[in-house]
Amino acid sequence: MTHGLVGAKSGWGKSWFCQWWTEDNVPEYDYLLVLDYKDEYRGLVKANLAHWGIAGPDEVSAGAAAWKEVLEQNGTLVLARHRLCTEEWREMCAAAIRAARRLDGTALVVIDEAHFVAPQSGSYPDTIEGLATTGRGEGVSSMWVTQRLARLDETVVAQTMVRLLGGFSSTADLNKVGGVVDYPEDVHNPQVSTIHGLPSDLEASDGPVPVRKFTENGKTQGSEWIYSTDGGDTRRVDSRMLTMQSTHYGPEGEGLSTPG
Ligand SMILES: Nc1ncnc2c1ncn2[C@@H]1O[C@H](COP(=O)(O)OP(=O)(O)OP(=O)(O)O)[C@@H](O)[C@H]1O
Ligand SMILES: [Mg+2]
Repeated sequence: MTHGLVGAKSGWGKSWFCQWWTEDNVPEYDYLLVLDYKDEYRGLVKANLAHWGIAGPDEVSAGAAAWKEVLEQNGTLVLARHRLCTEEWREMCAAAIRAARRLDGTALVVIDEAHFVAPQSGSYPDTIEGLATTGRGEGVSSMWVTQRLARLDETVVAQTMVRLLGGFSSTADLNKVGGVVDYPEDVHNPQVSTIHGLPSDLEASDGPVPVRKFTENGKTQGSEWIYSTDGGDTRRVDSRMLTMQSTHYGPEGEGLSTPG
């Protein structure tokens, strides 16, 4: 059982990376549950790697027993949010997570936009926090994905033992990164030109520069990340070097024209 954290600002490539990571890990687990806030993981379904479910107003009151049955019948499930507000989605996630934790077998649970599911401010269902705090020996692993690290509950963040962090621009998020990692957190700030004291294995080929996102003609080709574990393994990862079987359907987003 491992709890992982994936964080970077919007558009950095979190969902792309998580889809790759999910694809890479899914054969190791009996069950997969992806809680897909923005409907970004349907490529796993198109590639026949997972079943698809829509979580809309009719599903919001389905309890853990119903989700457990769905998971037992399907094995893998990407649940896309449809016409549910954040509070409704959180309640639904709680039921689905409770179900995943009750399964007889190993399960991987991916929570995208996790700061809405386990927020730093306000309360949220215990079973969600319990997912992050399940101890060794239990069969459920989790991946918490967020663009707002500062808004993801500290209890969850503190329990993750594997981290994959990219670039951030918010000072609050960068500060939270500083509390989590034991290398210079400036490597996550694309505004800094040179990072002092960066271990050589975290440097890019052209020196101690922050992580970068690579675009060509306005299209993201990949991005850099720092992978670190509680076991002391740290490395710089370039997602352009990774390939996956499924297609990622992330919205690239339309640009805004330049005034003047
Ligand atoms: N390694 C990669 N190879 C090809 N395309 C990539 C790669 N990484 C990211 N992209 C593309 O970049 C775009 C943004 O990535 P993604 O949707 O994963 O961002 P995100 O960090 O999840 O953003 P948000 O927080 O807004 O959800 C997507 O179109 C995605 O397919
Ligand atoms: Mg995303």
